[in-house]
Amino acid sequence: MNDAILQIRDASKTFRAGGRRVTALDDVSLAVGAGEIVALVGESGSGKSTLGRAVVGLERLDAGELVFEGQEYARMRERRLRSLRRRMHLVLQDPYQSLHPGMRVAAAVAEPLDIAGTGNARSARVDEALEEVGLAPASAFRDRFPHQLSGGQRQRVVLARALVGLPRLVVADEPTSMVDATLRGSIVELIRGLRDRHGIAFLVITHDPEMAAAVAEEVAVMQEGRLVESGRTVEVFRSPQHPYTKLLLEAAADVGRLEPTA
Ligand SMILES: Nc1ncnc2c1ncn2[C@@H]1O[C@H](COP(=O)(O)OP(=O)(O)O)[C@@H](O)[C@H]1O
Ligand SMILES: [Mg+2]
Repeated sequence: MNDAILQIRDASKTFRAGGRRVTALDDVSLAVGAGEIVALVGESGSGKSTLGRAVVGLERLDAGELVFEGQEYARMRERRLRSLRRRMHLVLQDPYQSLHPGMRVAAAVAEPLDIAGTGNARSARVDEALEEVGLAPASAFRDRFPHQLSGGQRQRVVLARALVGLPRLVVADEPTSMVDATLRGSIVELIRGLRDRHGIAFLVITHDPEMAAAVAEEVAVMQEGRLVESGRTVEVFRSPQHPYTKLLLEAAADVGRLEPTA
């Protein structure tokens, strides 16, 4: 692995809901190398989103350490965290939720940019980002509202917003769960292209092993808040060691989406 841009050490988080305690994260340790794509897989409720939210500072851990570019930030105060957060970006599952219905494409994409930038530089940067995700010419898209876009175009807008500020790490939570197989393929290509061109590291959260296999060099498997297995994606998927990983891969093979494992 390259030098780690992100290190998660012994992350733990318990929620209390209606008198019940749910351990969402139980001593999870994971690293993401600079410019590397890591997939976090596991069934619904295994703690993936909680980990993703903790990484970008939207959720505080009960215990454990988070290190980004060498800096520990799990308990960092909000004000200092803000400048660090500018170098990370969270992409949410549902582009309907992450795009404000009343906000035009250009404004949505410009949002993560420093307010200090001048108007012209900002709008040039926004156009560049739009065209990089395949929304070209940018002039045909910048003034549209979300409802004037297809589902695939909305997902591209969300990715343009993720890349516009050239973060070093993007956490993408189920970026393809709302789209069909063709679109999933183009989103995988887009993510890999952004990594190749800009060296942006990705933590891709998905319940879908096929998506993980297509996009990521490294994979980490979560079950009930625990990380049960991790390693090179080809190796983990070729010869899964943990029973839960085997189950996950068999379930995917059942619906004919993965090569049956030998
Ligand atoms: N804010 C919250 N309050 C109470 N329970 C939560 C909260 N967020 C997550 N959980 C619980 O934590 C567990 C892990 O959830 P989550 O991280 O969303 O899993 P995943 O993304 O893998 O589906 C689930 O049991 C979920 O119900
Ligand atoms: Mg989730």
